Amino acid sequence: MKAIVIDEFGGPDVLNYREHPVPEFGDDQVLIRVKAAGVNPADWKIREGYVAQLFPHQLPLVLGWDMAGVIDSVGKNISSFKPGDEVYCFPRLPTVQHGTYAEFAPADSDMLATKPENLSFEQSATLPLVTLTAWQALVDFGELQAGQSLFVSAGAGGVGGMAIQIAKHLGARVCTTASAGNHDYLRELGADHIIDYNNENIDESVKAFQKDGVDLVFDCTGSEDVVINFNYVRKPGGRVATINGLVHTIPELEKNAELHNVTAKLVVVEPRGAQLGKLTKLFEREALRPLPVESYPLEDAGLALQKSEEGHVRGKLALIID
Ligand SMILES: NC(=O)c1ccc[n+]([C@@H]2O[C@H](COP(=O)([O-])OP(=O)(O)OC[C@H]3O[C@@H](n4cnc5c(N)ncnc54)[C@H](OP(=O)(O)O)[C@@H]3O)[C@@H](O)[C@H]2O)c1
Repeated sequence: MKAIVIDEFGGPDVLNYREHPVPEFGDDQVLIRVKAAGVNPADWKIREGYVAQLFPHQLPLVLGWDMAGVIDSVGKNISSFKPGDEVYCFPRLPTVQHGTYAEFAPADSDMLATKPENLSFEQSATLPLVTLTAWQALVDFGELQAGQSLFVSAGAGGVGGMAIQIAKHLGARVCTTASAGNHDYLRELGADHIIDYNNENIDESVKAFQKDGVDLVFDCTGSEDVVINFNYVRKPGGRVATINGLVHTIPELEKNAELHNVTAKLVVVEPRGAQLGKLTKLFEREALRPLPVESYPLEDAGLALQKSEEGHVRGKLALIID
């Protein structure tokens, strides 16, 4: 099969578009014919070897942690899915090796959900990782309720765009950050208060939105104001979720959270198929909408990764494989 493979960690030069063996799959897994793969910052971080301390890696490896496609074959223990089913998933397996930038990829059956019937493969491929991340931060950890307030940084990105929509769906008020060119886009997504992080004092602007600080802060940029100084959040009793691996600040995060009487957590997204299945219903009811997608052919994965690494993607990037 054709795939984007790395034999060593490093910069853009280590990417190879080449023939690679179709991966084997286990009794509790399925093999998916990938139609489209979502591109995430995690992909170039894996390429660089930045997350090799967090998850075991096996080189050579195929990049990619998001996909939509059609089930090609199923393991002998699988009864819930069958060949021909259209699915999407965030297939993070215990070892980083068989990613989704390829014509075929394996996934555990409990990571899968049926693809939203109203969305294309291209749109669907970009949604599992970011939507699960936002849901697990806002709902599972943050317990965000109707009438409460959320501050989410980087609203124009993949996770931020889904967080804004989930919060509005729950009935919360949302304040977010973006450069000026993204403010109209964020209004369309439903944000109530948008801060130009290049030209405004974020602390003052959040206080103008919610005088005593918001109920939940969701940090998508790795801001020290959030995880060390605990700005923006209501004290006591507010919650702070961060997803940006400032790993060296986790002990400070926990210590400071206690001092400030808030609850804080580094959220690491889990690949939950049942939860993704519930989110599928929200997409089908149009309670959540897909994010705008810019697509590239598989062989141009390097261009997509370069764009992701530059840090200003609006919505999502995808690779078209079929
Ligand atoms: N822990 C986990 O499980 C987990 C899960 C998913 C993602 N992550 C991490 O979370 C981060 C966000 O992921 P993502 O997929 O949302 O990234 P993304 O889509 O690449 O984010 C791009 C967005 O970031 C915005 N941005 C850049 N610098 C900013 C700043 N200083 N302030 C506010 N916005 C800024 C840009 O908006 P402008 O163009 O307007 O600047 C752009 O729209 C990444 O580091 C990713 O690796 C972690």
